[in-house]
Amino acid sequence: MTRPILEAKGLHVSFNGVRAADDVSIAVHDGEFLAIIGPNGSGKTTLLNICTGYIRPSSGSVVLDGHDITRLSPRAIARRGVARAFQIPQLFSAQRVIDNMMLALAATDGLWSVVQPLETASRRDEARALLELVGLADDAGRISSKLPEGHRKLMDIAVALALKPRLLLLDEPTSGVSALERFPLMEALMSALRQRRITALFVEHDMDVVARYASRVLVWSAGNIMAEGRPDEVFSNAQVRQRVVGVA
Ligand SMILES: Nc1ncnc2c1ncn2[C@@H]1O[C@H](COP(=O)(O)OP(=O)(O)OP(=O)(O)O)[C@@H](O)[C@H]1O
Ligand SMILES: [Mg+2]
Repeated sequence: MTRPILEAKGLHVSFNGVRAADDVSIAVHDGEFLAIIGPNGSGKTTLLNICTGYIRPSSGSVVLDGHDITRLSPRAIARRGVARAFQIPQLFSAQRVIDNMMLALAATDGLWSVVQPLETASRRDEARALLELVGLADDAGRISSKLPEGHRKLMDIAVALALKPRLLLLDEPTSGVSALERFPLMEALMSALRQRRITALFVEHDMDVVARYASRVLVWSAGNIMAEGRPDEVFSNAQVRQRVVGVA
């Protein structure tokens, strides 16, 4: 295997005595689409929060491309190429999709950009390219709140991609999305990741989505990993079937 893009070692976090991360170690490799599954409250989101700087572990480290990022701010981690989707789903819902994209691009340009006009030719082109990338070119002029949920999720993904990440973290990308929209959403996401050569880590409750799209699966239980492997391997594990998938 290639050297990991991201490596977490020996992470511990407790909230009021609940061990949300209990000696967690993971490695995310270049080009993976790595799924995390597990029961509610088992610590999946906590791991994403640690990797993006929103929660500091009481011990352990997160290393990105060989650099320790454990105590960096979320903004500093984002600048190093780790993006998280679904950060801003509510904020600009009254705006057109293209305006949201230009705002996202302006935000990545730094503070000076607030004194510049939002709409420039190059920013508009880049915004359109990102929408095209996730299959939303036809939605550019629509008001964001009017989009079907699957398209809104794709817009949030396009906003995250405005950061030009190498690693994208997604927390339940298909939650709230109708069964009919789930696979088209995932197809658009996978296509965007492939085109931009982005590695991704995603938490997911829909096992059909995991079985179909994940290259590897980590199974969470009570703040740690109870099983790991290809989707067919973890889904044939009796303990995983009983405790996570819900079939004996
Ligand atoms: N900021 C926080 N403050 C207090 N407790 C927290 C915090 N974040 C998480 N927890 C607790 O830590 C445990 C793990 O939570 P986490 O959100 O990581 O679980 P999860 O696996 O993402 O669950 P779900 O599938 O429901 O999203 C839970 O008991 C939760 O209540
Ligand atoms: Mg969660």
